Amino acid sequence: MKYNITEMAEYIANRTGFTKGIAIVLGSGLGDFTDNLANPMVVPYHAIPNYPLPTVAGHSGEFVIGDYRKVPLLAAKGRFHYYEGHNLETVTLPIKLFKKLGVEYIIITNAAGSARKDIPPGSLMVIEGYLDCTFLKSASSPQINKNVPLKLLECVESAGKKSKVEIKKGVYAWTQGPGYETPAEIRYIQGIGGDAVGMSTVPELMTAKELGIDAIGISTITNFAAGILDQPLTHTEVIETANRTKDAFAKLIGTTIKEIGELL
Ligand code: HPA
Repeated sequence: MKYNITEMAEYIANRTGFTKGIAIVLGSGLGDFTDNLANPMVVPYHAIPNYPLPTVAGHSGEFVIGDYRKVPLLAAKGRFHYYEGHNLETVTLPIKLFKKLGVEYIIITNAAGSARKDIPPGSLMVIEGYLDCTFLKSASSPQINKNVPLKLLECVESAGKKSKVEIKKGVYAWTQGPGYETPAEIRYIQGIGGDAVGMSTVPELMTAKELGIDAIGISTITNFAAGILDQPLTHTEVIETANRTKDAFAKLIGTTIKEIGELL
């Protein structure tokens, strides 16, 4: 074990008084969500003993701890992607830290491409199952993991109804990146039951499961995956759709936090 997670957790707990609540990992573009927190306390990653730093230029990453409509929340702004060269120990470190800090529920957000015509860009999709398509652990065909906590799925669905935001449900396939997939890879992923594709979240969900913390993933669908449309996929399209969907996503996330807060 490379990281001293106890030391990291003690630092954060001493500085903020956080003892229990919900943690949320905010995907890029969603960082502003923490503007909605009452009594916010910021802990930059670089202040935490031996905490790694994200490689994304210009942003070192930080935790923001505060209350969202009276629900104690710990938000991670800035995460570690496998495709950026971080190993899986680093990718899953925040989840282990959440556990040490007494977090009871985790929400993980991301951007993803859609492998289905009926889940168009701009959709919000709750992850009801996932596939590990990285082939890091095994060369055999990935199987859908449906081990997603039902009560959290219900919280997201109920939040969708209450906030009048439409939600799709689907299976998220984790690929290694750093490039987007090829059309052939997407056809393969469709064949094994994948509905959306992205480069994060699955290792975090698997680690939460191992540690016995209930975790749920929610994707912003930013584009059709490669080969679904007869046009090339661009990073610009991904960013533009993420921006366009930000408000609906924030509304859904906020109501989801409130719903999960009832379980605390
Ligand atoms: N593939 C992988 N990751 C992604 C995509 C995609 O199409 N869109 C956003 N993240």
